[in-house]
Amino acid sequence: MRYFTSVKDIGNLNDALKEALEVKANKFAYQDLGKNRTLLMIFFNSSLRTRLSTQKAAMNLGMNVMVLDVNQGAWKLETERGVIMDGDKPEHLLEAIPVMGCYCDVIGVRAFATFENKEDDYSEKIINQFIKYSGRPVFSMEAATGHPLQAFADMITIEENKKKPRPKVVLTWAPHPRALPQAVPNSFAQWAVAAGYEVVITHPEGYELSKEFTEGATIEYDQNKAFEGADFIYAKNWAAYEDPNYGKILSADRSWTVNEEKMGLTANAYFMHCLPVRRNMIVTDEVIESEKSLVIEEAANREISAETVLKRILENL
Ligand code: CP
Repeated sequence: MRYFTSVKDIGNLNDALKEALEVKANKFAYQDLGKNRTLLMIFFNSSLRTRLSTQKAAMNLGMNVMVLDVNQGAWKLETERGVIMDGDKPEHLLEAIPVMGCYCDVIGVRAFATFENKEDDYSEKIINQFIKYSGRPVFSMEAATGHPLQAFADMITIEENKKKPRPKVVLTWAPHPRALPQAVPNSFAQWAVAAGYEVVITHPEGYELSKEFTEGATIEYDQNKAFEGADFIYAKNWAAYEDPNYGKILSADRSWTVNEEKMGLTANAYFMHCLPVRRNMIVTDEVIESEKSLVIEEAANREISAETVLKRILENL
């Protein structure tokens, strides 16, 4: 593997999940793979889990790790070609990227959707420039349209907890005070379909995700109906995708918050969320603290998804 930005890069998902469980059983078995290799993690946006889990994964593999927070301590970067750079951005991404590539063997990039331009976001303008100009293998630590390391960790978590071969997995929109990107729900839907689960997506009208990511899933606008018989509930907020509302908040309807009453409609489902989560907006205290909550397990599996991806990249260097 040289690039990891989508489920398409992982090959056979069942094989990848088996490999991940092998990695989990023996996290330090591949320490020689990363010897004298350096990972550069570049953050255009904040992170807790991705930063720590990916660094830990790289250390498990014997790698050296450098972290650059682009907006803290680095030169402000211009990303548009053709701009007369007489503003507050002294460096262009087109020099910065190949320079970064000089100092490392593998690059991880976090660059969220900005909601300024849908075409730029959905063409993955930032991470694709790293792929084009760094000369290094590149993997996504959450890009504009996808968060594949999170989705991979979520699939590992479902595999570890499912009670039947094809569980019913429900992705539900829930309210949030800020406009959030579609990266997590896009990837979750795409990976859950690829894993062969029965996937239902429920959200208020107007919150339809890109069909590119939801093909194979059923859309159900009635949240209560969607929850019936569910084995896993995956809650997440996202802003509108469809024009003319791209990036906008269309609803703050708190009746969509996942609570005990709604969980009671399910087949004793597990609760999942990628974190960070706004308690009592997305999910009530009672549900996230219940024994059916898998949120900490998902976060723990971020180390495993990152290690499996880095292992594959290192094996191909
Ligand atoms: N789930 C996730 O990616 O968490 P962070 O934003 O804290 O990295």
